[in-house]
Amino acid sequence: MADFDVVIRNGTVATAADTVRCEVGIRDGKVTALAERLGPGSEEIDASGHLVLPGGIDTHCHIDQRSSMGATNADDFRSGSISAACGGTTTIMPFAAQHRGQSLRTVVDDYHKRAEGKAVIDYAFHLIISDPSEVVMKEELPALIRDGYTSFKIYMTYDALKLDDSQMLAIFALARREGAMVMVHAENHDCLAWLTEQLLAAGHTAPKYHGVAHHSAAEREATHRAITLAEIVDLPILIVHVSGREAVEQLRWAQGRDLRIYAETCPQYLYLSAEDMDRPGFEGAKFVCSPPPRERANQEFIWRALQGGVFKVVSSDHAPYRFDDPEGKKMHGDSAPFKKIPNGIPGLEVRLPLLFSGGVNGGRIDLNAFVALSATNAAKLYGLYPQKGTIAVGSDADIAIWDPQREVTISVDMLHDNMDYTPYEGITVKGWPVTTLSRGEVVCTAGEPRGQPGRGRFLPCAKPDMARPAGSSSAAR
Ligand code: URP
Ligand code: ZN
Ligand code: ZN
Repeated sequence: MADFDVVIRNGTVATAADTVRCEVGIRDGKVTALAERLGPGSEEIDASGHLVLPGGIDTHCHIDQRSSMGATNADDFRSGSISAACGGTTTIMPFAAQHRGQSLRTVVDDYHKRAEGKAVIDYAFHLIISDPSEVVMKEELPALIRDGYTSFKIYMTYDALKLDDSQMLAIFALARREGAMVMVHAENHDCLAWLTEQLLAAGHTAPKYHGVAHHSAAEREATHRAITLAEIVDLPILIVHVSGREAVEQLRWAQGRDLRIYAETCPQYLYLSAEDMDRPGFEGAKFVCSPPPRERANQEFIWRALQGGVFKVVSSDHAPYRFDDPEGKKMHGDSAPFKKIPNGIPGLEVRLPLLFSGGVNGGRIDLNAFVALSATNAAKLYGLYPQKGTIAVGSDADIAIWDPQREVTISVDMLHDNMDYTPYEGITVKGWPVTTLSRGEVVCTAGEPRGQPGRGRFLPCAKPDMARPAGSSSAAR
């Protein structure tokens, strides 16, 4: 008679706090024992030479979402969740995105239908609020927060999504009152629009001009403004997909004043650059996202900010639009002006290998910081801890077993999303997740997806803790 459903033996277990050699016992989808030596399991996994880490939590991904430009994501909840699982991620937090005029409750119901029967790993939803109407603010949003949708993203740019300062203040005040985390896309809309107009009038239409129009000073200004509005309301907020040193300087300023300003960055700002958007022909469109990758020297600056604790999370901002597809990057043809190229790039499956390779194997962050940045901090920020984001007795057995020495050259053919390109094609990483378990069940091993679509469960999120944590508000751990 087995003591456990699954036992993982001979591995090194790391959490955000500790690294220990021990075995992991799993029963009914939960971690039930951690010890030097455990009794038998019905299934035994040998993790010799491997790391046993909490499965990643990707808190910024767009799945089966219609963009504000009308383009449709290439991934649904099946392909998106399989791809995430094969990259060592066990929880995804995509968006239920409101378009103006829509009831937020109807939007949420619709996204549940999209996920139903498809996800292989667990998921929660952030809301996107583009229309803070009276009924949304007074009825729908407070009720949804109580139902476990405790985070929402707002935009300072995009014609169809942007909110003005007074709308932002009203949303911040509501988040403070009801208990929710606000995620802010910080770019100054008028600056972007004016620059775009000037560039197009001068005939500068190529993809690389997307990077010129999305000036880093416009990101800096909006970041500072969002911080100011949050300070006025005394609300912790999170600035998403921070791309450049200009914005980082504002984060450092705020964190130095002990404001609870959290921040996220993404692999594209660590590995890609403006030069990629300048590839021949329309190839540069593969790298068009907002904010855009900056000049090459900026990458090391973002790495240093990661090391220094400016960022709490590294997410993919997976926003997959196929390249050779009239519903994707070429929705307006293969010589469309940059303004008409759908914004976003894929990255669900390679987020963690890119961070592990450049971070841990690159000697920039230690293993515990990797766990914090890829899982634990996210679980804490978004009300999923300790069910998710750690390996502890009582936690869900969401685990990624990593071979820290395995070298992999990234190519679109090996990935499990529904894309026809990866912006990371040809990059060799060291460190790869070899087996991923979701609630104790193997959902990917040796690059082969397992697990029944539909087994993934919806996760209602607890309200974030508005109290100031002991110690620094900006530390990575
Ligand atoms: O370009 C991007 N990042 N597209 C996805 C939408 C967003 O703003 O995150
Ligand atoms: Zn955004
Ligand atoms: Zn995004």
